[in-house]
Amino acid sequence: MLVGELSCKLNKFRQKLSAGWRGNIMEHPRNLGLGGSLPVPNVQALAADVTPTLLRRYLRPQPSTGGVFPTATDVEAGLPVIDLGRLLDPGLAGQEEAAKLRLACEDWGFFQVVNHGIAEETMEEMKRDLVGFFQLPLAEKTKLAQHKDYIEGYGQAFVFSEEQTLDWSDMYYLNTQPPSYRDLRFWPSSPSSFRLSMERYSTETQRVATHLLRVMARNLGVQDAEKLTRIAATQSMRMNYYPPCPPEERDRLLGVSPHSDAVGLTLLLQVSPVPGLQINKGGVWIPVDPIPGALVANVGDVIEVLTNGRYKSIEHRVVVNPRQERVSIAAFHNATFGPSPLEEIVGGGKPLYRTITVQDYVKLILSIKLQDKNMLDAMKLP
Ligand code: OGA
Ligand code: NI
Repeated sequence: MLVGELSCKLNKFRQKLSAGWRGNIMEHPRNLGLGGSLPVPNVQALAADVTPTLLRRYLRPQPSTGGVFPTATDVEAGLPVIDLGRLLDPGLAGQEEAAKLRLACEDWGFFQVVNHGIAEETMEEMKRDLVGFFQLPLAEKTKLAQHKDYIEGYGQAFVFSEEQTLDWSDMYYLNTQPPSYRDLRFWPSSPSSFRLSMERYSTETQRVATHLLRVMARNLGVQDAEKLTRIAATQSMRMNYYPPCPPEERDRLLGVSPHSDAVGLTLLLQVSPVPGLQINKGGVWIPVDPIPGALVANVGDVIEVLTNGRYKSIEHRVVVNPRQERVSIAAFHNATFGPSPLEEIVGGGKPLYRTITVQDYVKLILSIKLQDKNMLDAMKLP
């Protein structure tokens, strides 16, 4: 075979490889078999008119409180705060902030992001339109109800059995990035500015996620930053509505059960200044006090796997509030590729997690949720 011919073949092969790689990323999440949820009562409606029979499905055998809670001052001193403006500074300030980010990822897996450059208007419009959506009459919202085979729409996540203890929240879920992933049948026409607000907010959070991932790659010594930034190529939004709960049951209800995020990187906006989010740090539930305007970032399971456990995906939950409703938006940066520990991080060491295809990863997420087990334990190699 001539050298020219050979190099032409090689080029074709490379093109195929990179198309495969892109193909993998661009697989629509709906086609991955993530499955749907059983229909459950609408919690917002239930909270307005509590019936003991329905309420029973939400009560947990164990109270959610108890144990040692740190004081707010301990928490403020602890939870790292990353200034994105400083992080992007090409000089010394950037290096200092990058070192802070490294510690935040290694020690906490959770941090708040301030000075993220998202215009206040963009944040306020998103908040206003989402609250406006949740205020619509139930009949309007249920026009956007989830279909039985996929998570997108208004409803709840991962309810598999009639026996399962339910979360005290409603969920509205949309695929937002890339634009080709959007299924506009699930996007509301009211409030009329919702679509535009979401478009702007989604683009901005994707930008913030990409910046954070790029610095993480540098901190980890990963030369090809795209190995991490491609996590931000796809994004979906989980919008949560937590109605006030019956005061006498507050200890036996949870807004969201303990879980870690199966995705790559989450950026959470707490729409109302009502606390609720708690993270499990060394066996203690630590409340996250929302800094107004900040985003709460957390490392998801995919980053824990890619970094071979150097960055931890931390378990968290949401507690309920008897007086005030709470609204939040979790922007999940998804990585629709099969995660595996990155070679340059494993080095001469031992990979701690399995290498898995995206289809198998999605199947694993579902079977784990069904069995109430821990995703990362299932990914760990013996
Ligand atoms: C989630 C989540 C926390 C919150 O949606 O995965 O953890 O504060 N939400 O709503
Ligand atoms: Ni979460």
